[in-house]
Amino acid sequence: MHPMPVSRPEPGLGSAALGAEEEALVLDVLRRRELFRYYGNDPQHPPRMAAELEKEAVALFGTRFALAVTSGTAALEVALAAAGIGPGDEVIVPAWSWISCFTSVVRCGARPVLAEVDASLCIDAGEIARLQTRQTRAVLVVHYQGAAADMDRIMEESASRNLLVIEDGAEAPGATHRGRRLGSIGDIGIYSFQHNKPMTAGEGGLIVTRHPHLYERAVRMHDLGQYRALHARVCPPAWSSFAGGQYRMSELTAAVALAQLRKLDRIRDHCRALKARIAPRIGALPHLQLRPLSDPAGDFGFELYFYAETAAAAAELRRRLDARGVWCQQRTGTYPHYRRDYVISGMAAHPSLSPFRELSPWPAPGYRPEDFPRTEDLTSRFVALPLGWHYTKADADHIAASVEAAHAELFGA
Ligand SMILES: Cc1ncc(COP(=O)(O)O)c(C=O)c1O
Repeated sequence: MHPMPVSRPEPGLGSAALGAEEEALVLDVLRRRELFRYYGNDPQHPPRMAAELEKEAVALFGTRFALAVTSGTAALEVALAAAGIGPGDEVIVPAWSWISCFTSVVRCGARPVLAEVDASLCIDAGEIARLQTRQTRAVLVVHYQGAAADMDRIMEESASRNLLVIEDGAEAPGATHRGRRLGSIGDIGIYSFQHNKPMTAGEGGLIVTRHPHLYERAVRMHDLGQYRALHARVCPPAWSSFAGGQYRMSELTAAVALAQLRKLDRIRDHCRALKARIAPRIGALPHLQLRPLSDPAGDFGFELYFYAETAAAAAELRRRLDARGVWCQQRTGTYPHYRRDYVISGMAAHPSLSPFRELSPWPAPGYRPEDFPRTEDLTSRFVALPLGWHYTKADADHIAASVEAAHAELFGA
């Protein structure tokens, strides 16, 4: 028997930090009986949670505009529509990323084109040149599990090709790249308030941008084409209406999201401090390699990744860490898109909406496992160690000691 850790808390991030602050803001909404963001009981004092969330998000993330929506997936769909991406267009998407990164592109009628990831588990910037066609409009960058993609190169490659950069910061709000908040570097960024995220309201999403036209179009897309007075005060309208969807955030969700936004950096600093106790010890082990990051100091720190030399060694390390009470399974639900049902079928909700209908036979090259040797190799060899709000320094030290012990058992001292 191995000594068990001091504790084995659930990794929880925002959800683990829920407390009196969220309660107070939710109660405020309930007591006012104002659940809808655009009007309430007193025209002189309209509801304020969603508006305040947007205002504080602008200040925190360093963008010009922010818009609250119903989910991170909704934020992606709205952002793509705001950017005017649609049928006939292509969007470059990392092959290893969350479901919505693929489906949101299909839903707006464009074709997701899958890119290999590099060892940071984010899109390989070199893929932009390889995959660009005359139809390419945008690169959807996913900052995987708390850490930045190589934004210097991605911005350079995209700018030289006149491609939009959409940053998916759902898994990395509060993380930075050379001092800039992820989500604020490209043309338009998104975050999620889903339950497992660093800031959560159960569900919810946020869009940020510095471009007035993207903001206005996002507002219209998320509110049935409308552009209400509140938004006109933030940015005067310049576009005509179009048939949008309905992705408005409720005041109740906004109350929780706002309290969580205010805690984001504290949760991040806690995770970073824990990671700093563990990473150097793993980095010193000869048969393991830490996930290389384009800016290690900017990592949120809620999940520490390292690679073993083979998939078998990674599986054996996981088994031994689990026996010591260390969480180390792949818990994010991310799989390569080319192994998912929606890619294997190539279907949209209606056959004529599928951007793959002209590609035959299906799955076509670029959508099959054999087309992604690097992504296949990297994602078979990593071990992920979640850290969280309830983790203590003693937990971090136990994790580091457990990796050292498992490494010694497997490879010798
Ligand atoms: C990278 C990424 N993008 C988008 C989303 C979608 O967010 P949501 O679950 O709020 O729709 C998620 C989260 O689940 C995610 O991890």
